[in-house]
Amino acid sequence: MRDQPGSSVTETKGSPRSRKLVVMDWIESRTGFVSFSRKNLDEPMPPGVGWWQTLGNLLMTLLIFQFVTGVALAMFYAPTPDHAHQSVAYIMDGVTMGAFIRGLHHWGSSFIVLVATLHMLRTFFWGSYKKPREMTWVIGVLIFQVILGFSFTGYLLPWDQKAYWASVVGTRIIATIPYVGEHLMVLVRGGKEVGALTLTRFYGVHVMLLPAALIVLTGIHLYLVRKHHISGPVTPRKGRPAPFFPVQLLRDAVVVLVASGLLLMLAVAFRPELGGVADPSGVTFTPRPEWYFLGLYEFLKLMPPSLEVVGTLIVPSMVTIGMLLLPWLDRVESRHPAKRGWIIDLALFMILGIGVLTLKGVLSEPPPPPKAPEAEAVLAPAPTPPSRP
Ligand code: HEM
Repeated sequence: MRDQPGSSVTETKGSPRSRKLVVMDWIESRTGFVSFSRKNLDEPMPPGVGWWQTLGNLLMTLLIFQFVTGVALAMFYAPTPDHAHQSVAYIMDGVTMGAFIRGLHHWGSSFIVLVATLHMLRTFFWGSYKKPREMTWVIGVLIFQVILGFSFTGYLLPWDQKAYWASVVGTRIIATIPYVGEHLMVLVRGGKEVGALTLTRFYGVHVMLLPAALIVLTGIHLYLVRKHHISGPVTPRKGRPAPFFPVQLLRDAVVVLVASGLLLMLAVAFRPELGGVADPSGVTFTPRPEWYFLGLYEFLKLMPPSLEVVGTLIVPSMVTIGMLLLPWLDRVESRHPAKRGWIIDLALFMILGIGVLTLKGVLSEPPPPPKAPEAEAVLAPAPTPPSRP
């Protein structure tokens, strides 16, 4: 950015360039936007920063896509059991480019989980959570929970069989929490069963609570990234930091363009599914969660009924708390993975475990439909009609 606000005096009065500078001067004096942009474009990148550091901005771009397509879908969607499925069917077949927009939103959610996971792994292996970036990491872990919350609440909205029964199973997990579980589940569902109030609640959380949380958390995250600047490679390299513009910005643009192209292709080539309308009285439907919850789903299936709470509550809570406390659990000063001992070993073990379980879930045939007596178990839905407000 070469144009300096205030430099208009050197230009011929009335020329297009001088008019542009006058406009920029005006914007700068009223908003400070020009110096704000320049500061961000000049952000110093330590030597060794490269393609791995493009994932944060890719994530932000995907979240913006998701927000735009979500607002477009909300223009046609009706969050009631009588109309939800019908309105999604109308989006798919009656609205111009409706199937494409829904496709972008559907595939976009998988992209976001994938890119958020890669961004988290990159910052983990680079030890970027260490002093002074502890809070950048903690806010990132919270953002990850919010992203999973979006996926969980969004899954129910089409109100087809898959959506309904997966949400019955997902919310039933809450009931396994000792003492307060049943009450919590009723609170989340808005009644004893998944019904009209569950749909309203999930919709409210999906379009209001989670977006608000995400905007606030992302704002804090980006502020902290700028405050502490980005960390360089684990072993510092010789050389002077380079500004973000033009090299790193170009890398970001390439990655964003490639990912957007892929997303567009998926949205055009594969119409997102819409199964039969939710039938709360049928127990013949076997639910399967989205691919990113399959690891947990398979893990729950391994647990004997007496230890079910280990899979539903104890292990997931320990993993989340461990991730939040990671900057303080890892006492080693070095950021190099080879010097970080048990933290790296544990992470590799978990990544392998989650990977194998997810693969097992993807490859396994859906289990046979549950019989009536099994239907009360956590992994099988109860054959009860939905509640009405
Ligand atoms: C809304 C989602 C997120 C956005 C938009 C975002 C954005 C960014 C950006 C732009 C950067 C700098 C460039 C880069 O390192 O890629 C960054 C760095 C960082 N992010 Fe995120 N991030 C998000 C989620 C997360 C998550 C889920 C975590 C981890 C749990 C995380 C942890 C970090 C850390 C520790 C850094 C500092 C990296 C360094 O200094 O090398 N972020 N983030």
